Amino acid sequence: MLAGKHILLGVTGGIAAYKTTFLVRLLIRQGAQVKVIMTSSAKDFVSPLTLSTLSQHPVYSDFVDEADGTLQWNNHVELAKWADLFLIAPLTSNTLAKMVSGACDNLLLAAYMSSSCKVFVAPAMDLDMYAHPATHENLSVLESRGVDVIPATSGFLASGLEGEGRMAEPESIVEQLIDRLQAEAPLYQKKVLINAGPTRESLDPVRFMSNHSTGTMGYELALRAYELGADVTLISGPVRPLALPEGINRIYINTAAEMYDQVMAHFSAVDIFIASAAVADYTFEETHPHKLKKGKEALALNLIRTKDILAGLVPIKKNQVVVGFALESDNDPSKALSKMKAKGLDAIVYNTLSDSGAGFGPDTNKVTLYQKDGSHSDFPLQSKHQLSKALWSDFIAQWF
Ligand code: CTP
Repeated sequence: MLAGKHILLGVTGGIAAYKTTFLVRLLIRQGAQVKVIMTSSAKDFVSPLTLSTLSQHPVYSDFVDEADGTLQWNNHVELAKWADLFLIAPLTSNTLAKMVSGACDNLLLAAYMSSSCKVFVAPAMDLDMYAHPATHENLSVLESRGVDVIPATSGFLASGLEGEGRMAEPESIVEQLIDRLQAEAPLYQKKVLINAGPTRESLDPVRFMSNHSTGTMGYELALRAYELGADVTLISGPVRPLALPEGINRIYINTAAEMYDQVMAHFSAVDIFIASAAVADYTFEETHPHKLKKGKEALALNLIRTKDILAGLVPIKKNQVVVGFALESDNDPSKALSKMKAKGLDAIVYNTLSDSGAGFGPDTNKVTLYQKDGSHSDFPLQSKHQLSKALWSDFIAQWF
């Protein structure tokens, strides 16, 4: 959930500020990018240099920085807009009260007031401050405005007292961020199956028959589904190494028969299956155990049909959504529409090699999504990364 996310970490002046060094490391380990804003009193508890080194970004603190005699204005609006998520940890009672009142006397508060992303706070105070009715009321006000509170925990406090007020441990903060983001994600608890890439049919131990599919479109769709909170299984043909988060269950196959078996093994448990793979329609009648030697004459090889995976799902499909892909070499959407009907699909993504920038090779694509109710939506030429976002927005609006 945090991979690729821009996290703005606001650090205020409490002893728990030293724990933000671990917090930054944990967030970065999750694949997030982190920028830190500190109040001036936070700098008494943890060094900006430490947080800057760990976050690999400058640490922001004042509206204006003086570097080498030149003055530099730190743009709080830009920082707030950069953030996908704003986490204020530790949150002191002073900053809490200012957030409630709208006071804005430092860069952190100015960024908070300018933010439109999800805000999380992890309060840390001494026993009686945390128990004070003003603190409870202020936290409730923030919650009523949509701020997510990661409650303080119980234990030894820096004052020597024991009780509630300790900032949640960095591991627990990260876990809670992930859990809460997941619960709000549009594909939370949805199971998504995607197949991608080409298949390979072997003639002998040296040669095979395949196609030009790179798998990029299917991989991008899998990544986006994962970012939207889905439980994703990707069945991948042999493609050049493409990185994906570890949370995606990736299964490699080679042949069309293996692809068929894997889809059949996973299909019944999923809410949606997206068939973006370029599955071979034919395989060799015979796969030779040894390398075939050339002869003087032409060589005729017998090809036999593979099983059509999508057609095979028709009798077992329940309330699931099945989306196919159709790549044609000419511009003839009627072929895609016939495939949608013949394979009992809910929708089909049509693209044609006659559009430049579309199809297997490039990192871009231009497609039309046809629905079984006769409606369609056009997606102009764009990167496959952007297109996967646009397609998922459409899928979510229709089916989830
Ligand atoms: N497909 C499948 N099983 C196969 C072949 C294709 O499930 N054995 C799926 C593809 O993953 C795609 C859709 O069917 O989602 C359309 O694939 P395409 O190759 O365009 O069409 P075919 O039905 O194979 O017809 P043709 O190759 O004749 O165009």
